[in-house]
Amino acid sequence: MTYTIAMTNMKGGVGKTTLSVNLAACLAKYHQKRVLLVDLDTQISATLSLMPPADFARLRNDKRTLRHLIQSAITSDPKLPQVVPDAIHKYVCQLKGFDLLPGDIDLYDEFLVSQMLHKTALQKQETDFEHVWNVFEKNLIQKVLVPIANDYDLILLDCAPGYNLITRSALLASRFYLIPARPEPLSLIGIQLLERRINKLKEMHKTDLTQVDLDLLGIAFSLSGNILTSRYYGQVMKRLNEDFSEAKLFKTRIPSDVNVSKAIDSFSPVVLTNPGTAGSKAFVMLAQEVLQKLSTLTRSQALEKKMSLSSLN
Ligand SMILES: Nc1ncnc2c1ncn2[C@@H]1O[C@H](COP(=O)(O)OP(=O)(O)O)[C@@H](O)[C@H]1O
Ligand SMILES: [Mg+2]
Repeated sequence: MTYTIAMTNMKGGVGKTTLSVNLAACLAKYHQKRVLLVDLDTQISATLSLMPPADFARLRNDKRTLRHLIQSAITSDPKLPQVVPDAIHKYVCQLKGFDLLPGDIDLYDEFLVSQMLHKTALQKQETDFEHVWNVFEKNLIQKVLVPIANDYDLILLDCAPGYNLITRSALLASRFYLIPARPEPLSLIGIQLLERRINKLKEMHKTDLTQVDLDLLGIAFSLSGNILTSRYYGQVMKRLNEDFSEAKLFKTRIPSDVNVSKAIDSFSPVVLTNPGTAGSKAFVMLAQEVLQKLSTLTRSQALEKKMSLSSLN
């Protein structure tokens, strides 16, 4: 079974990429999982945390980034590379089980998307344009993942800040979403807004026969500055525990640790370059929690399904 998890928060700079990269490395290194990290942000932070810019430029030249897969989904141009496995960069940081689908500084052209959708609607004589849009949004990232999904235990999608087409499509292709966040009052409001938008997305994409299976895996907090000792932090955490149920929060908090950001200089996650530091230890614990939550949620959902089936009989 492959778990696809969208790492998302509309806010930038909250630790989405850092968490995605370190979580992927921990799951491969300590749990022997086959993990694919997909960089969906045009800032390509995940890609550049794992390879020097010159290597990325070479891959881009060889059309081995996500851009060309997205382009081929939009334009259906048979000349563009269609084969996802060719774009996957294997053995990231020489670690078995850790693969990357590199991102790109340029993923899609909004004008081309509109033009293609307009053409599709005309060809199919479809008057319900919302339906044309929804089909495209639902399939865009899913199409990229389907050919390789069975090769992995986990696929982590590092989303861009905001709530763009790629993020929505990534959410629709995922079974779970994980919200990396900073414990700040505005951040808490941001999480509630995101959850509202995701519920709306699920509502828009459900049909009479199917609903969108997409659940919150949890909210993971990365702390900033000297926050552990401040009284203000205590107040924010109190509010957080009031606003969100315990089941929604990861217990592990990622401390602020300079080694975490320094690791980027060596194009390798801190859990590999400096496993003894406070930040690394927290990522290792969080990876364990992620696996526990996945197994608990999957088990309880299977049970729910069984119960609802038996009530039908
Ligand atoms: N635990 C941490 N300790 C120190 N710096 C961190 C930590 N987590 C993230 N950072 C730094 O914070 C910045 C933003 O993190 P990033 O993961 O890129 O956020 P996002 O993907 O949400 O925009 C980066 O410079 C990163 O190195
Ligand atoms: Mg990022």
